[in-house]
Amino acid sequence: MNDGEPVALDEEVQVAGVRLADVGGMEEVKQRLEIAFLGPMRHPELAKTFRKSLSGGLVLYGPPGCGKTFIARAVAGEMGAKFYPVGIAEVLDMYVGNSERAVKELFDVARRNAPCVLFFDELDALGQKRSHLRNNSWLRTLVNTLLVEMDSVAGKNEGVFVLAATNHPWDVDTALRRPGRFDRMLLVLPPDAVARASILRYHLAGRPVAGIDIEKLVKATEDFSGADIAHSCESAAELALADSVRTGTIRPVTMDDFKTALRQIKPSTGPWFAAARNVATFANSDGEYDDLLAYMKKRRMV
Ligand SMILES: Nc1ncnc2c1ncn2[C@@H]1O[C@H](COP(=O)(O)OP(=O)(O)OP(=O)(O)O)[C@@H](O)[C@H]1O
Ligand SMILES: [Mg+2]
Repeated sequence: MNDGEPVALDEEVQVAGVRLADVGGMEEVKQRLEIAFLGPMRHPELAKTFRKSLSGGLVLYGPPGCGKTFIARAVAGEMGAKFYPVGIAEVLDMYVGNSERAVKELFDVARRNAPCVLFFDELDALGQKRSHLRNNSWLRTLVNTLLVEMDSVAGKNEGVFVLAATNHPWDVDTALRRPGRFDRMLLVLPPDAVARASILRYHLAGRPVAGIDIEKLVKATEDFSGADIAHSCESAAELALADSVRTGTIRPVTMDDFKTALRQIKPSTGPWFAAARNVATFANSDGEYDDLLAYMKKRRMV
C-alpha cells in the first residue's frame, strides 16, 4: 500500500523507438489504426469537420504475445510521441485505497511528457465481472476518475493519447466500454506470414546461423505467437550453443536445431481461441467480435 510516495514516475515514460514500418505484415491492423486513430489525430481540423470525436481510447485485444504492446509502442513512434506503459493490475495491487490519486498522477506524468501515448495494459483488470471486485466502491471510484481524466485530455490538444490492451475484452468493465470511452476495439491476431518472417529475422540477427530457410520456418510456425517464435529461436540457439561449448568451436544455428526445437513447442494461442470461441459465437449480438468470428471461421476454429 502506498503512503505519500509518488505513484507515477516520469522515469517510466519511454522513447517509443519503433514505428509502424517496424511491425512486419499485419497490414489490416495498420490500415485500421490509420483510419480509426492516426489519421484523425494528425488532422484534428478535418476530424472536427466530419464530427469525428477524438475522445475515447482504442483497445487492442487478442491472444497473448501477438504484438499488442509492440503495436501500441509503434503507434506512439508514428505520432512522434513518448510511450508510457502502465500495468493496471500493478496499479490496483499497489494503490488500493489511493487509486484516485494514482490515476490522476498517471495522467499528470503523461501531460508533463506530452506528446505521449498513455498505454493501459491489462485493461480487464478493471473488470467488474471479477467477482471479488464486484460492487467494490473504490474500484468504481477508480474507473470514474479514469473516465474523467480521459475526457479532460480528449480534444484539448494536451497531447495525451490513450490506448489500452487486453487479452480478455469480455471482462472489461462495461462502464469503460460506452461510447466516447474505450469504445473501439482492434483485434491483433497471431502474426501472419510476413510478420513471422520479420519476427524470425529480428531474433536471428546477431546470432551465428547457417543455411536457415526463413520461408520454411514461416510455414512451420503458423498459429505461433510472436512470443512463441522468439522462444523457438532461443531454443534453437541453445542447442547450437551447447554443441559449441562441448567442442570449443562455434557451431552456427541450423535448420536441424529448429527441427528439434519446434518438435517441443506448441503454439500458445490455442487456449485463448478456445476461450474466445464461446464469446464470439454466443455473446456477439452487437457485432463487436465480428472480426474474431470471421478469422475463426476462416481458420475453421468454429
Ligand atoms: N508484426 C510483428 N513484427 C515484428 N515483431 C513482432 C510482431 N508482432 C509481434 N512481434 C514481437 O513479438 C513479441 C510479443 O509481442 P508483444 O509483447 O507486443 O505481445 P502482446 O500481445 O503485448 O503480449 P501480452 O498479451 O503477453 O502482453 C515481441 O517481441 C514483439 O516485438
Ligand atoms: Mg503486452
